[in-house]
Amino acid sequence: MHVDIGNALAEVATPGVSEAALERLDAEVADAHETIAAGMSNAVFGYASLNLPETTSASGIERAVADVDADAVLTVGIGGSALGARTVTAALGEPEHYVLDNVDPEHATRLLDSLDLPRTAVNVVSRSGTTAETLANFLVVREAYEDAGVDWTERTAVTTGETGPLADLADAEDLPTLAVPEGVPGRFSALSAVGLVPAAILGHDAEAVLAGAREARDTLSGSLFDCPAYAYGAVAVALERRGAHTNAFVPYAEALEPFAEWFAQLWAESLGKEGQGQTPARALGATDQHSQLQLYRAGRHDKVVTLLRATERDDRAIPDTDVEGLAYLGDATLGELLDAEFEATEASLAAARQPNVRVEVERVDARGVGDLLFSFEAACVLAGELMGVETFTQPAVEWGKNAARGLLGAGETEEAAAVRGKREYR
Ligand code: PA5
Repeated sequence: MHVDIGNALAEVATPGVSEAALERLDAEVADAHETIAAGMSNAVFGYASLNLPETTSASGIERAVADVDADAVLTVGIGGSALGARTVTAALGEPEHYVLDNVDPEHATRLLDSLDLPRTAVNVVSRSGTTAETLANFLVVREAYEDAGVDWTERTAVTTGETGPLADLADAEDLPTLAVPEGVPGRFSALSAVGLVPAAILGHDAEAVLAGAREARDTLSGSLFDCPAYAYGAVAVALERRGAHTNAFVPYAEALEPFAEWFAQLWAESLGKEGQGQTPARALGATDQHSQLQLYRAGRHDKVVTLLRATERDDRAIPDTDVEGLAYLGDATLGELLDAEFEATEASLAAARQPNVRVEVERVDARGVGDLLFSFEAACVLAGELMGVETFTQPAVEWGKNAARGLLGAGETEEAAAVRGKREYR
């Protein structure tokens, strides 16, 4: 991954970071890197996630799901237990991966009615094994298979922690079970079985994803000037300290749209603590140039725009035409037009002194997505160190989970009581 922070410098952007401030920040990065490197060496909770490119066995995952014979996969999971897997298969251009994360009954029914169940594997993922949405959806999915006379046990794989209701269920039904690795929080688990099982079932090269991640891992060093991931994380923090409280994340590739969603979870759930944290905003180039760009250019100077693209892709020529005024298109390709849109957005923001950062990978493929996943995880871990927050916890998310379980009758919880005590004012 390459990162260009030129349009975030104080000379050209407001807010912006001066080169002197970057030098000072680099000393903070060096200290943070020491903590991160020690955490990785000792496999400390959270930091251990950055070891996944070495510790995950792609062949082990492939062996575990070798008997699952399917043309499509339905992942049942939510948050970190779904977004990474969806990001990987989208980047691989795989159309047959479906995700049931939300508990919207109409959506669940429509999705289940549309699937060819005998040819669809079920991939159930929950680190805790207790998440109400995932377990409820799994029960609904099982029933749909049973109603259709299809044996779900033959085509279901489970990824979960060592203990918990989901582990018990997998054991009772003798389902292939993969472990969520020790020390890895949900949103940092994309480079493990949590993120790689659907790709493996559908015959993609999970090892190439890990190889891309290893390439990114090899760039980790104690200086933001040598490490693209740290350059991104450090500049994001420096800009937030100067008032860029929103991070508008804009991939210029349809296959990276889920990556923006994954990034939003990573950034918000890891860094939104102690009155700090950028609000991630998801957009897609060039589509959202025709809407959100107005705000990003002419709105408040309270954001950084992250522009992400691949530098190589399969292209498609725009056919020639003799329609007056359109001839210029016939000399170009869709890819050239997309690049022109990217560069136009970047220049448009720069002309208005709106800070923006350019991120590039070579291709949106297995290596590329491995590189991006690892690099942004490392950027996030560094950002958490610089901000002094607990990157790997999510107390607000747990609060909501406890409240929902309590409201449904799984024992009275303090959180559920707080929901019941809501003061109405209509
Ligand atoms: O990052 C996280 O911790 C969360 O987003 C979890 O992944 C999400 O809440 C799902 O949790 P679980 O995997 O325990 O079902």
